[in-house]
Amino acid sequence: MVQSCPEASPAKWHLAHTAWFFESFILKEFLPGYQLFDTDFPWLFNSYYQSFSQFPEKRLRASFSRPGLDKILGYRQHVDAQVNALFERNPEPEALKRIELGVNHEEQHQELLLTDILHAFFTNPMRPAYQPEPERAALRKVTESGSLRFVEFEGGLREAGCAGEEFCFDNELPRHRVWLQPYALASRLVTCAEFAGFIAEGGYSRPELWLSAGWDAVRSNGWQAPLYWARQGDGAWNVFTLRGELPLSTVAPVPVSHVSYFEADAYARWAGKRLATEFEWEAAAEGQPVEGNLLDSGRLMPARVDGSAVSSIQNQGPAQQFGDCWEWTASAYLGYPGFKPLAGSLGEYNGKFMSGQMVLRGGSCVTPAAHIRSSYRNFFTPETRWQFSGIRLAS
Ligand SMILES: [Fe+2]
Repeated sequence: MVQSCPEASPAKWHLAHTAWFFESFILKEFLPGYQLFDTDFPWLFNSYYQSFSQFPEKRLRASFSRPGLDKILGYRQHVDAQVNALFERNPEPEALKRIELGVNHEEQHQELLLTDILHAFFTNPMRPAYQPEPERAALRKVTESGSLRFVEFEGGLREAGCAGEEFCFDNELPRHRVWLQPYALASRLVTCAEFAGFIAEGGYSRPELWLSAGWDAVRSNGWQAPLYWARQGDGAWNVFTLRGELPLSTVAPVPVSHVSYFEADAYARWAGKRLATEFEWEAAAEGQPVEGNLLDSGRLMPARVDGSAVSSIQNQGPAQQFGDCWEWTASAYLGYPGFKPLAGSLGEYNGKFMSGQMVLRGGSCVTPAAHIRSSYRNFFTPETRWQFSGIRLAS
């Protein structure tokens, strides 16, 4: 039941809420005679669907000492059994679409479970490791991540948004045309070593590098480094990961993670570059295989680009587009032309957040591989740092 910051949720809450989604939007509507597991659960585990029911304030989720874990696990078993019962009744196409949405929703919470555990363990004074540290030998084999190159793209008239028959969220539609000027994307993500250079050159104390709201965030939050970086007595940095606390020297070639949009933007300005728009990113990623350091790799932290990837990108697109870190883009999170949210309460899933947030692309080392695609749009407010969010430069 630990909730170490208002944005995060307790693990037990994630387990209950993902079952709640199936109960509320599928079983109640499509399984005749469905009996609620508990009459309090529909409002207790509602996250943010105002038109569905009232719900507790998000920051209070740590106070849910009851219901206990056994009851939550029983809830999940009940919902699973009832979804199976629904399958046996040859459900209508809308029910099947909702089940697919429920599965994708649960995949999003699989990622949040890990980002929230990382934050919880960071705030724990013992700084426990979620998984054993990776072999130092594997981390140290290459201390360089390959020199940063820029891969050029012609731009022109392109299409953005989900094109295929496979599942996508409403915010990836409709597919539409976009015009791109010629542009270039960095061949890999910005590394911890490179970001340490920004810190060493006074990046966090130079207002000229920051957006106005970013500079306010630096001062009001006292930011001096990415979230999870801690300066040691000798001035060296340690970086806390799901594999425990690692010296910066060990993760130097690994992509920097847990930076806000403001930090990504300031870094790009310091480097004389910029962040890509979401459409530039998508045009480069479309058609590329969804391969990379995703949850399925089991690594649970970003990884350096290996030597073979660096040489192979001479003739291909940029490396690390999928996995490692979500990439902040310079695009505000808005509806595409003709955007239509889902009908009913599910219309609140994505559409109502289209104000004050920025788009991130590509998934991270804790995103399930089956969950991500080139048209996928993640979004967070620009000061958000507890997600695996990193930086790709563009020009
Ligand atoms: Fe949710």
